[in-house]
Amino acid sequence: MPSAQPDIFTPFTLGGGAIELKHRVVMAPLTRNRGTKSEKHDRTWIANDLMRHYYEERATDGGMLISEATPVSLEASGMPGVPGTFTDEQLESWKPVTAAVKAKGGVFFAQLWHQGRNTASVLTGSRIVSASDVPITDAKFGWRGLNPKPFEAPHALTIDEVRATQDDFARAAGRAREAGFDGVELHAANGYLFDQFHHTNVNLRDDIYGGSIENRNRFTLETVDKVIAAVGADRVGVRLAPFGMFNQVRGEQRQEQWTALCEELGKKGLAYVHFIEPRFDELQSEAEKLANLDANNPLASLEVSLRPYREALGPSTPVIAAGNYNGSNMNDGLGAEHDLVAFGRYFCSNEDLVERLRTGAPLWHYNRSRFYGPFPDNEIGYTVHPERKTHKPGERIVFEGEVLKF
Ligand SMILES: Cc1cc2nc3c(=O)[nH]c(=O)nc-3n(C[C@H](O)[C@H](O)[C@H](O)COP(=O)(O)O)c2cc1C
Repeated sequence: MPSAQPDIFTPFTLGGGAIELKHRVVMAPLTRNRGTKSEKHDRTWIANDLMRHYYEERATDGGMLISEATPVSLEASGMPGVPGTFTDEQLESWKPVTAAVKAKGGVFFAQLWHQGRNTASVLTGSRIVSASDVPITDAKFGWRGLNPKPFEAPHALTIDEVRATQDDFARAAGRAREAGFDGVELHAANGYLFDQFHHTNVNLRDDIYGGSIENRNRFTLETVDKVIAAVGADRVGVRLAPFGMFNQVRGEQRQEQWTALCEELGKKGLAYVHFIEPRFDELQSEAEKLANLDANNPLASLEVSLRPYREALGPSTPVIAAGNYNGSNMNDGLGAEHDLVAFGRYFCSNEDLVERLRTGAPLWHYNRSRFYGPFPDNEIGYTVHPERKTHKPGERIVFEGEVLKF
């Protein structure tokens, strides 16, 4: 259990004693699209030696890493270069990666992903699916090598298909454990399939999976139960974004909905729940996001803090917080509001981030244009950093060719 006033280098135990961490710096899940295209299965990717090197560099003794999001089926997939957790070939490809992290004493969870409506049939090989047939309308779907096109209207999953999708998560969790991961994290944040069930503007269902807070949370809670049945509660984490707006989610009744969700999750004995801080957004700066939480109608009544959700979970579920943490604020709220801190972008640019945070050494700034592959030179901005610049919090450094707003 946490000591009275822990700092980020105080040890912590997860999963009812099953997992001992020597510090509280967690590598956040980071999609980097550096996988290798499978020659066996169309539209699938596998992990490779470059990825092994990348994760191994970031592993520390008693430190926790969460993998990039890994699709649980072809239907769940939505990006080139992302190795999944649904074929035997993928399972085998992850083994050297998990072994390398383990050899350094690291703890490694696999994030399990279903993009729902945020994909295209050219990538799933069939239709795209969601809670309801509501497409994303304010953007186009495109990727390196794919021409941007308007999002397709998704097929609304039938009840049988909902259950089959939940089973895909349970199967993928079992495969992840077989591949050597210590546990799995369900990606129930950032506007992907779980969130498409959570949000009132995307979930228009009138069956047991829509129409009320309880029903909108049902898909997530049932999936959590199935994944727990497959691998055990102490090996399961869940990622949530009660303040998320990414991928056009604009649900109402958020505080009530995520509080109810956390009250239920708190009964399950999970390894942890992982929240994204309200101040963080994929497309807005911290100032813009906070201004939007003030002014934006569906969110206006919210307490802008993770505190209600921590309270709803109760004291026995560990909490990870992520979003705009750095060397200066990494101890803020530790022990009280959350137990562990996940770093995303700084782990892209600092393979030795844990040591830099420990010694107070300056952090290398991240190069957004190299976040997401695939590239012909996949190692650049991944394991090789030819043009590094240090970064002071708040300072904006623009790299030549920087294309994404992230
Ligand atoms: C390149 C990149 C890829 C990301 N991929 C994922 C992902 O696969 N799954 C996920 O839950 N979040 C993903 N995120 C969000 C991060 O996990 C994290 O929540 C976010 O970057 C905020 O943390 P930071 O301020 O420390 O970067 C990604 C972020 C970045 C920058």
